[in-house]
Amino acid sequence: MEGSIRIMTLDWVVSPARLAGAAGLVFAYAALCARVAWVARQKRIDIARDNDVPGNQAQGPAVLVVYASQTGQAEGIARESARMLRECGLRVTLLPIDGLNKAHLAGHERSLWIVSTTGEGDAPDHALRFVQQVLPTNADLRGHHAQVLALGDREYQQFCAFGEQIQQWLVAQGANSELLCVDNMDRATLQTWQSRVNALARECQGDAGESQPLPALREDWLLAPASRMFTLQARRLLNPGSEGGALYGLDWVAANGELPEWQSGDLVSLSVPADPEHARDYSIASIMADGYLQMLVRQSTREDGTPGVASGWLCTGVQIGEQCALTVRQHSSFRLGDNARRPLVLIGNGSGLAGLLSHIRARIEAGRGDQWLVYGERSPAQDAICGEQLEQWLRAGQIERLDRAWSRDGGRRTYVQDVLLAQADELRRWIERGATIYVCGSLQGMGQGVHAALKQVLGDECVQALTQSGRYRRDVY
Ligand SMILES: Cc1cc2nc3c(=O)[nH]c(=O)nc-3n(C[C@H](O)[C@H](O)[C@H](O)COP(=O)(O)OP(=O)(O)OC[C@H]3O[C@@H](n4cnc5c(N)ncnc54)[C@H](O)[C@@H]3O)c2cc1C
Ligand SMILES: Cc1cc2nc3c(=O)[nH]c(=O)nc-3n(C[C@H](O)[C@H](O)[C@H](O)COP(=O)(O)O)c2cc1C
Repeated sequence: MEGSIRIMTLDWVVSPARLAGAAGLVFAYAALCARVAWVARQKRIDIARDNDVPGNQAQGPAVLVVYASQTGQAEGIARESARMLRECGLRVTLLPIDGLNKAHLAGHERSLWIVSTTGEGDAPDHALRFVQQVLPTNADLRGHHAQVLALGDREYQQFCAFGEQIQQWLVAQGANSELLCVDNMDRATLQTWQSRVNALARECQGDAGESQPLPALREDWLLAPASRMFTLQARRLLNPGSEGGALYGLDWVAANGELPEWQSGDLVSLSVPADPEHARDYSIASIMADGYLQMLVRQSTREDGTPGVASGWLCTGVQIGEQCALTVRQHSSFRLGDNARRPLVLIGNGSGLAGLLSHIRARIEAGRGDQWLVYGERSPAQDAICGEQLEQWLRAGQIERLDRAWSRDGGRRTYVQDVLLAQADELRRWIERGATIYVCGSLQGMGQGVHAALKQVLGDECVQALTQSGRYRRDVY
């Protein structure tokens, strides 16, 4: 027995294929580390650009504004807060949390933190380095004044958990910090934030003294993002006969003929007549060159059997030719950005195809076909969503590889994470080629299963390095 183990071990050690594979992974990991360093440098350039704005050369008191955002809402509020403070003459440094270091904190007496919680009580993906390298350490923040705005949703068990974590850390470091938690972008709580930022601006202006007169404060600056009227042009049932929830493709055209700008990966937000208070987000499946804004909407059913409010209205309520106000939302963490120059591994299920389709279309428009789509649905007979289109792109070389996982194909149940495990060598090769991974669709089951499979195939450190360097992006809900 012992002998056979030794032989197996020796086999493993000397096998040229294994050696080449291991060397490849080591090389890929080293390249990734170099990439993390490059991204950090690029981040510094981006931060400098973000802060090199008119008005920021003011000599007024300095305020640090930090954000951590998964789907862009916290980033939007941070940008608005920073803009208002600059307008009233303060020196503002606006930073994504991955660009923050202790020197920034030491160099400021006042800071604003706008942070969301994602997953199950988790920090946004781009906060990984901060969570691992800054939160476990100490900083002397005595005398520092902070305001934390935590975005969350009470439907989740760990409401505003990441905001709470930041607040606890700041207080433990001696900072005088105040926390405000927002449930589902509640307008009244956001108004409170606006008042607090106004109070901070007045205090800073007071500190500047009368020798340095500063511009007047604009009281009502935290406006709801601008929406545009769209007309529903077409709606198609994409999975007739499916045992799962109906999935519809909806095409919207701009009512005034002028589309707002968006990039692949962005979101569209809308409020429906039955619930004007709470907007819902949908991934945009089309690109601007298509001339219309496309959504893929799954008709959802609640636990009590009643239809979901927004998806019900979109799938069966709104009529062709009817108008609706839509807000296009920048989704920085799921855009292509620098990754436009890399091969892509696109992984998703169900309505998650929407976010992946927009990237495929953007790449085809840019003349690139080095993308691998791994897509999961129920049955090949009823749920081959956009099947002909995908096959055609594959034949034309506009998709390099297409794998579909069917969870109800006779007795077999295959999920996208199973494809990743079965194609482990292929996945490693794509990562060695410099690919970026985009995941879109359900968090439960798919998002978590894919994350576990990636860690199994690539290793924890590699997945962390991919996250930090922006080569692992998620739009899971
Ligand atoms: C980033 C992102 C991208 C998404 N992309 C897509 C996509 O491309 N396609 C797709 O089909 N779905 C997508 N979704 C899901 C979509 O936003 C909706 O959640 C889904 O359509 C179900 O909404 P519903 O109104 O039909 O269901 P409902 O059960 O009526 O509502 C769903 C959620 O809305 C909130 N809500 C409803 N009523 C209230 C209330 N009275 N008070 C407070 N909160 C309330 C709750 O959080 C509830 O869980 C995405 C979600 C996110 C976060
Ligand atoms: C997949 C997903 C998971 C979420 N998990 C939590 C959570 O665990 N706790 C919480 O309070 N809010 C949670 N939320 C709600 C978000 O924090 C909230 O929608 C916030 O406004 C998003 O801000 P952002 O766009 O800046 O990321 C979650 C939202 C999504 C889409």
